[in-house]
Amino acid sequence: MRETQGETVQVPPLSDDLAFLDIVTEWDVDSTFHEWRAGIVVPATFLPGSLPRVIAICNQKGGAGKTTTALEFAMALVARGLRVRIIDADPQEASLSVWLRYFYPEGVEPADRKNLMHLYFDQSVTLQEITYATPFEGLYFVPSFPDLDDVETKHPTGTETELQFHLSKADDGIDVNIIDCGPKLGPLTVSALVAAHDVVIPVQGASGLDVRGAAALNRTITSVQGRLNTELRVAAVVLTDFEKSTLSRQIGGRLAKAYPNAVILPARTSVRIGEAQLAKQPLRIFAPGATTVLDYDRGASILFGNGVAA
Ligand SMILES: Nc1ncnc2c1ncn2[C@@H]1O[C@H](COP(=O)(O)OP(=O)(O)OP(=O)(O)O)[C@@H](O)[C@H]1O
Ligand SMILES: [Mg+2]
Repeated sequence: MRETQGETVQVPPLSDDLAFLDIVTEWDVDSTFHEWRAGIVVPATFLPGSLPRVIAICNQKGGAGKTTTALEFAMALVARGLRVRIIDADPQEASLSVWLRYFYPEGVEPADRKNLMHLYFDQSVTLQEITYATPFEGLYFVPSFPDLDDVETKHPTGTETELQFHLSKADDGIDVNIIDCGPKLGPLTVSALVAAHDVVIPVQGASGLDVRGAAALNRTITSVQGRLNTELRVAAVVLTDFEKSTLSRQIGGRLAKAYPNAVILPARTSVRIGEAQLAKQPLRIFAPGATTVLDYDRGASILFGNGVAA
């Protein structure tokens, strides 16, 4: 694992006087719409996770906000001095790896550099070998390329437990591993769920999880909990692209009911997200005062508690 990639950029903490959302214990369904202000729901039963930790960001629905959530949580955590590794487990061409590559001075350039695919197919590859430094101090990542899809089609031996095996062996001082899953519930996503302590489910704040999609995701999570990872929990549901509306209020209420022990985190919408993507920068760097950044920042400190006190 290379420690630096040329010059590193330090990600600063946010100032405390910004317009953070309130933290509440229940999703408010009682007040009038006019009075209602969404808050971050932290149920009384919720306990922050200890470090080191592995989080899988999953939803088989495309465009739910998984990659944005993975990157912005990671940036919030490195701003608190943690060492974070993002594992790109999405074979899509337009995945995080393609994006991250652009803000590399030297670049984790070509697909012939060792990447996540090699972990599943080559017994001699270690996680450290495929972990690269980024320009941001404390942020590391494991890239993937479209050939990662071979894991879905060729089923190498031990796929389900491969990532868990390597993560449990890795002794490289990483505090938090964040796995950005693709929009599928195939073997790769299952291997991420087997490796994880926590699942975070991003849901488009204005469209929700469709009923069948939610049932399929829950079946996969339950099956992994039953067979391969009894400790796995749904730690948070992130309502991405969140705006105050009757629909987003209903969706938040439904999800709070469906996941009574999980944090419900509205990640408010921001036009700056698209601009940040065009500029090929994490939102936190491009527009540190954007509401979305504040929400991910608060969410990260709730999920990790004293490990990263706000
Ligand atoms: N809080 C937000 N406000 C506004 N736009 C958002 C927000 N979160 C995500 N988006 C936008 O939603 C789109 C999809 O986000 P993202 O790529 O993170 O989803 P994804 O679940 O990773 O998609 P895929 O399933 O293709 O991997 C992006 O264009 C992103 O800019
Ligand atoms: Mg994605």
